[in-house]
Amino acid sequence: MKKHTHFLRQFALFALMGSSGFAAQAADIQGSAQAGQSKVWLCTGCHSIPDYRADYPMVYRVPIIGGQNGAYIVTALTVYKKGERKHPTMRSIASNLSDQDMADIGEYYAAQTASSPINPLK
Ligand code: HEC
Repeated sequence: MKKHTHFLRQFALFALMGSSGFAAQAADIQGSAQAGQSKVWLCTGCHSIPDYRADYPMVYRVPIIGGQNGAYIVTALTVYKKGERKHPTMRSIASNLSDQDMADIGEYYAAQTASSPINPLK
């Protein structure tokens, strides 16, 4: 319940930022961790490796997103898609995700713990 409230607050923020059409649409979307499981094959190559560094020689640290709040992940993916965050790989990945994909992926990662098995679809 608390998580849901947080989710709505995130999108209220987007409305304030002038994306009210998006906010109205996204508030109706309910993520499913189970659906997300089949959508993260794109992500696990980078995000499931502890301390992995991507984009050699630029040497970026890849953030650990397992266990992260679902709304946080949706927000991050949304701003990559909109180009407000500039990391090139994340931008091109996020630009191919629908709002439903992002919500599902957010719930999938939110459900992860340190002892979760690595996704077999990796
Ligand atoms: C090629 C490696 C790579 C792949 C594949 C990849 N990411 Fe990322 N991701 C990164 C890197 C590097 C960053 C940090 C970029 C930056 O500094 O903005 C990042 C950042 C993020 C963030 C922001 C985290 C934060 O705390 O700010 C999220 C959320 C995220 N990725 C989710 C995903 C999802 C979901 C997928 C699959 C759909 C995915 N990524 C695929 C490398 C990758």
